[in-house]
Amino acid sequence: MPITRIAGILRDGQPETQLTARGWVRTRRDSKNGFSFIELNDGSCMKNLQIVVENTVPGYETSIRDVTTGASVSIEGTLKESPGKGQRIELHASSLTVLGVADAATYPLQKKGHSMEFLREIAHLRPRTNTFGAVARVRNCISWSIHNFFQTRGFLYLNTPIITTSDCEGAGEMFQVTTLDLAMLAKKQIDTIDWKQDFFGKPASLTVSGQLEAETYATAIGDCYTFGPTFRAENSNTTRHLAEFWMVEPEMPFYELPDNMDLAESFVKTIINDVLEKCPDDMAFFNERIDKTVLSKLENIRSKEFIRLPYTEAIEIITKSGKKFDYNVQWGSDLQTEHERFLTEEHFGQPVILFNYPRTLKPFYMRCNDDEKTVRAMDVLVPGVGEIIGGSQREERLDILVQRMHECHLNPDDYWWYTDLRRFGTVPHAGFGLGLERAVLLITGMTNIRDVIPFPRTPGHAEF
Ligand code: 4AD
Ligand code: MG
Repeated sequence: MPITRIAGILRDGQPETQLTARGWVRTRRDSKNGFSFIELNDGSCMKNLQIVVENTVPGYETSIRDVTTGASVSIEGTLKESPGKGQRIELHASSLTVLGVADAATYPLQKKGHSMEFLREIAHLRPRTNTFGAVARVRNCISWSIHNFFQTRGFLYLNTPIITTSDCEGAGEMFQVTTLDLAMLAKKQIDTIDWKQDFFGKPASLTVSGQLEAETYATAIGDCYTFGPTFRAENSNTTRHLAEFWMVEPEMPFYELPDNMDLAESFVKTIINDVLEKCPDDMAFFNERIDKTVLSKLENIRSKEFIRLPYTEAIEIITKSGKKFDYNVQWGSDLQTEHERFLTEEHFGQPVILFNYPRTLKPFYMRCNDDEKTVRAMDVLVPGVGEIIGGSQREERLDILVQRMHECHLNPDDYWWYTDLRRFGTVPHAGFGLGLERAVLLITGMTNIRDVIPFPRTPGHAEF
């Protein structure tokens, strides 16, 4: 008998078809009239397959008591139109095999309505819940949409290194990678490290961004994007920060800041459109159970043009608003999440692209404006999340780039290959980075970034 996944059965299954379904039991109900109902889920979709097992099915007497919540089963049978409400079709079993039992006394997912905090402690089992199954499918759809967006526009998918010796953001928030025996060094009370003895012959770290390497390919092959895990040892315990997160970073030669904004805006809108089209059941679930406004929020984002606002005007709006914030801002201050959310949620009620930030707030690689005070940076802010994208036009002029490196206390010699790009055939270019988990937060309405990545890494937490 063909083995079919439940999403396909519920979508296309015809009465009288014989097939085998396999998955994990959500519930079992025994009727007094000599049969049992099983709700079976295999993760292919939100919905369960209803299965009717008569007590005349071979093995019923010995197996049915092992068909408990969490057990894995394989069931052969024939599809029938369902007389009950809630499903078009159901499977009438002709044989039942329990593949793996799940002891009812110890299986942790017995009752419905576990807290997110509890589920984080059982991150290996939480994908079996409705919420985390839906998050996994929507996250997958977003990743597919990201690749599709760039591939259909002729971008090259580039793999940039995970281990690196340069700090792209210059923020000193990198995880060091070493094969030196730290315990031994401590024991020998060695206080100066001879990096030549280390694996790479110099200090190396996990990357915070693939941008610098992406620029080398953009200025050779053309439009490209890198999409991979990035790592930040920033000690911020918030609902929006992870120590390990996934970032997609397109980089485009001959783009200036407005082109970069156009691409970012259509990128965000396309991802939303794709998820609404491909995951309607999961999105209906999020709208009903997680955030009752999520669908209307997404509709609002995809139907309106994003506001484009210079940083200087944003500061004026914030200071003139009369609203009390935890942090006061003036020209030159970094915006906090509270200010970003005020702008995008309260003041405008739609996404905002903030641009032309003070150069003192931004990394060395951003292109300086003629005012000598600001750089061509852009941050895309969205309701519910705040910053979802950060990017800029890049400084393509060698002398100014080197001056900016000095300002940022970086040694241009360490970036010799990066400055070479400005020495040989330099061109205007631009790019940005979208945090995948921030996009999942926006689209699902989930509120904690720890719940939209399978195994979150945050300060003090690297379990699983
Ligand atoms: O603004 P960021 O730091 O920009 C860069 O890394 C650039 N090199 C990107 C580029 O221009 N190619 O990070 C980009 C995005 C943020 O807007 C946010 O969505 C996400 O990455 N992000 C994080 N997501 C989760 N946890 C963290 N700790 C994050 N830090 C940044
Ligand atoms: Mg940023």
